[in-house]
Amino acid sequence: MLARILEGKVFAAQIKENVKTEVEFLKEIHGITPGLVVIIVGENPASKVYVANKHKACAEVGIYSEVVQMIETITKEQLLAQIIDLNGNAAIDGILLQLPLPDHLKQYETEFLNAIHPDKDVDGFHPVNVGKLTIGQEHLVPCTPYGCVKMLQLANIDIAGKHAVIVGRSNIVGKPMANLLLSRHATVTICHSRTADLPSITRQADILVVAIGKPKFITKDMVKPGAIVIDVGINRIADKRLVGDVDYEQVKEVASAITPVPGGVGLLTIAMLLSNTIKAVKLKHNIK
Ligand code: GUN
Repeated sequence: MLARILEGKVFAAQIKENVKTEVEFLKEIHGITPGLVVIIVGENPASKVYVANKHKACAEVGIYSEVVQMIETITKEQLLAQIIDLNGNAAIDGILLQLPLPDHLKQYETEFLNAIHPDKDVDGFHPVNVGKLTIGQEHLVPCTPYGCVKMLQLANIDIAGKHAVIVGRSNIVGKPMANLLLSRHATVTICHSRTADLPSITRQADILVVAIGKPKFITKDMVKPGAIVIDVGINRIADKRLVGDVDYEQVKEVASAITPVPGGVGLLTIAMLLSNTIKAVKLKHNIK
């Protein structure tokens, strides 16, 4: 069997097109221009590329966006003050603090993320939004796992009744992914680095989601024939190539559908950030 390739650009374009229509509606009918601020601290080159891509994507759909570039040596108090200032800024609907933070601020990461008002938390990382997701009241949901379920929906892949196995238990991907799939009536198993006999579990997956940050970790023998495989990993290997957590060349021979890396779900993350920004506007103004 040769797998259906789930190309991120196809689904991202559909989501962005929807967002663009919504932005036009908000501008024309309600006189509202959605606004997003991305805060970046220091000069991490990968983060700078991600932030520039977010800024560009906002411009494409008509969302106002600002990048607040802060110097590496900024204090905890200065960063908190910046977040609190943006919480009170009526022109700004979404606030995203780009991670990772410089080493001296890492210990306060939770404090910074918790300082972002839950209604402006377009990353969906605030405990209020995490809690809402776990009890099935989806509010602002983390962009990467949200992009994965949106993609399944757009690809007409049913989730209800399937056994979904997630490899990775991070707060950004694994845990929210589990809750999203559970709410959509999948039977969900979460595996991680300490799981005993991982292949025996991954082989049970109808939908296999992998986010563990280990290049080409999932091999053909770990995948049930016909499974849908979603690869969230992005790893730079020795020859500078980007590869996922799944051995794509092998696994595409057994899966029924698979996301490539690059060109897979990574492209959906930004699209969902735009979508979350619109959601934040609508929630604020009580627009359906
Ligand atoms: N750095 C890499 N991915 C992300 C993300 O989704 N959100 C934030 N805030 N930082 C990131």
